[in-house]
Amino acid sequence: MPGKVIIGLQWGDEGKGKISAYLCRNARLVVRFNGGANAGHTVPLGNTELRLHLLPAGVVSCRKAAIGSGVYLDIRTLIDEIKIVQEIIGEIELTISPRAHIVLGIHRELDGYLEDIRGGKGIGTTRRGIGPAAMFKYGRIGLRIIDIIENNISNDNLRFISSLMGWKYSEYKYVEEVRELRSEIDKIRRYVGNVSNVIRSELQNGQTVIFEGAQGTMLDLDHGTYPYVTSSTTLASAAAHGVGISLKELSEVIGIIKAYTTRVGEGPLPTEISGKLAEEIRIKGKEFGATTGRPRRIGWLDLFQLNYAARLNGVDKLIITHLDTLSGLTKLKVCVGYELDGEKVQEFPETVNRLSRVSPIYAELEGWDALTREQVDKIVKEGYGALPRPMRKYIEFVEDSLKIPVKLISIGPRIQDVIER
Ligand code: IMP
Repeated sequence: MPGKVIIGLQWGDEGKGKISAYLCRNARLVVRFNGGANAGHTVPLGNTELRLHLLPAGVVSCRKAAIGSGVYLDIRTLIDEIKIVQEIIGEIELTISPRAHIVLGIHRELDGYLEDIRGGKGIGTTRRGIGPAAMFKYGRIGLRIIDIIENNISNDNLRFISSLMGWKYSEYKYVEEVRELRSEIDKIRRYVGNVSNVIRSELQNGQTVIFEGAQGTMLDLDHGTYPYVTSSTTLASAAAHGVGISLKELSEVIGIIKAYTTRVGEGPLPTEISGKLAEEIRIKGKEFGATTGRPRRIGWLDLFQLNYAARLNGVDKLIITHLDTLSGLTKLKVCVGYELDGEKVQEFPETVNRLSRVSPIYAELEGWDALTREQVDKIVKEGYGALPRPMRKYIEFVEDSLKIPVKLISIGPRIQDVIER
């Protein structure tokens, strides 16, 4: 029963959408278990691209998806995505957990408000309301799909929220939104069902199920660069928790890394580079936020950070994406450790104060020339040995440092531009 979890090992945007679409060609079901519409998973489809925020990207390949209770649902975004995907690939099978919490207008407003009152010193959130939706969930005043379907909204709860949020959100506005949500949820009512059972029955039948993680390890609420993190768990362990199955039902953790580092929003990025080189990589790699369009910050590959991330997730296999984006550079830097106050850092720093003061220790590796489309096609056909030698050295350097095999390598934007090893 192969339950495979795909996890981004950096700050998100490692290329999970495309990789999930590739791996789901041989899967029966793909599952989203965390995050919300703050995620943006891009899937190349012929000459165009599809950007999904709530449906798992792998659905374009296996046509069967589930969304667990660990996901914060923006109902209108979900309805739009189902429509768009079905227009492109036809009918899909979908199961949505009745326990999933709903992102309300009040959450989006509060997200923006909290960012604004920090006057440029905020987290740099996507303003999709995820943090406030999590505040409601953990404060036990959230609204779940099932609560709306069964009309389980007590007046006490409503009064409590109104007085808590009285500054902006009147009781009337809240009642109105719930009324509108009820008619929106009617449109997806037929998809609401038991996600754990759907997953378990596929696994028990020996089918492959892909658990498509959102965001990245360093944005994890507990183990990331707090407070510059997202408001959910982004680690592999969330795959079981976020859908209601046991850890024992997961068989493999696949860590995805981009050949360099990126980050959107605020917070430390030890290997950050700026100027012309960062701009070149940003443009070549199309490094602009899939949800907000913000330019992503760029940094060299950071093996010290990746080692921490790989241990947190218990990664079995690695996938490297965007190697083509680095082509054309004579020398490539790779961070192999940090120094702080003249001493070598042993453990990944727990505070942004310390993390923002570290100096990366770099190894320098040889770069490679750009590959033409014909060369990419030829390499994909011939396999790993046909890759340029410096590219293989780069991959093997990562593998040796992290002591985890690299099994899939992406050298171009199309789904098929990958080499299995
Ligand atoms: P939030 O998740 O919108 O609250 O944003 C918190 C931080 O996580 C911000 O720095 C966002 O830019 C970042 N973030 C959230 N989702 C993603 C994602 O899917 N990819 C990359 N960064 C993300």
